[in-house]
Amino acid sequence: MSARIAVLASGRGSNLQALLDAIGAGRLDARIAGVFSDRPDAAALDRVEPALRWSADARTFPDRAAFDAELARAVAACAPDWVFCAGYMRILGEAFVRRFEGRLLNVHPSLLPRYKGLHTHARALRAGDAEHGASVHFVVPELDSGAVVAQVRIPVLPGDTADTLAERLLPQEHRLVAAVMALAASGRLAERHGQVQLDGQTLFRPLRLDSAGVLHPDSRD
Ligand code: GRF
Repeated sequence: MSARIAVLASGRGSNLQALLDAIGAGRLDARIAGVFSDRPDAAALDRVEPALRWSADARTFPDRAAFDAELARAVAACAPDWVFCAGYMRILGEAFVRRFEGRLLNVHPSLLPRYKGLHTHARALRAGDAEHGASVHFVVPELDSGAVVAQVRIPVLPGDTADTLAERLLPQEHRLVAAVMALAASGRLAERHGQVQLDGQTLFRPLRLDSAGVLHPDSRD
C-alpha cells in the first residue's frame, strides 16, 4: 500500500508539485492524501483535485490554538502516514506538533542549524557563506529546530543576490524533498528521542543529496 502524505502549504506549492511529479514518474511510492492551507487563495491548493483540498483563513480564528485544532482535525481525517510542510509559513503550535510527532517533516531553505526563520538567502549572503542549501527536518515545537534528515548544498557565486540564490536553490530543494519523502514512504525513516533513524540506525549527521539525486551519508570530516 502506498504511503499517504498530507501536505501543508501556504503559497505557490512548487514543493508539492515536486512530490506530485515524483509520484507520477514512479520515483515516489506514495499518494497525496490531502493538501491543507492557512490561506484559501494559496496556489498550492489548485495543484490537486478539489476533493483533496482543505483551507481556512487563519486570521478568522480567535487564536493559534483554535486554528491548529481545526487543521489537526482535518489532517487526521485523511489518515496520513506522513505530514509534510512544503512552504507552510505559519508556526505550528505544540499541540499540533505533538499529535503528529515522528511523522511531521518540513523543508527549510538553509543549511540548518544556520538561519532558522525567514530571509535565509539574504542572511547567508550577508554572512559571506561559501555554500548555501536546504534542509528537510523533523518538526518540533521550536521553530526549524528538529533533527535534520538530509540537506542539499549549492555554492554561493560571485554576484549572487538573495533572488538568484533562491532561484538556483529551488530546483535542488525539489529534488531533496522528493528523495527524502521516498525514504519516508518506504518505511526507512523514523524519529526516536529527537534523533533521525535510518533503517533502524541513528543518523548522526544529515544525509547529503548528490548531483544524481541520491542521498548519501555525509562523509566530510
Ligand atoms: C520554499 O523555498 C520553502 O523552503 C520555503 O518556502 C518556499 C515555498 O515554496 N519554506 P513552494 O510554495 O513550495 O513553491
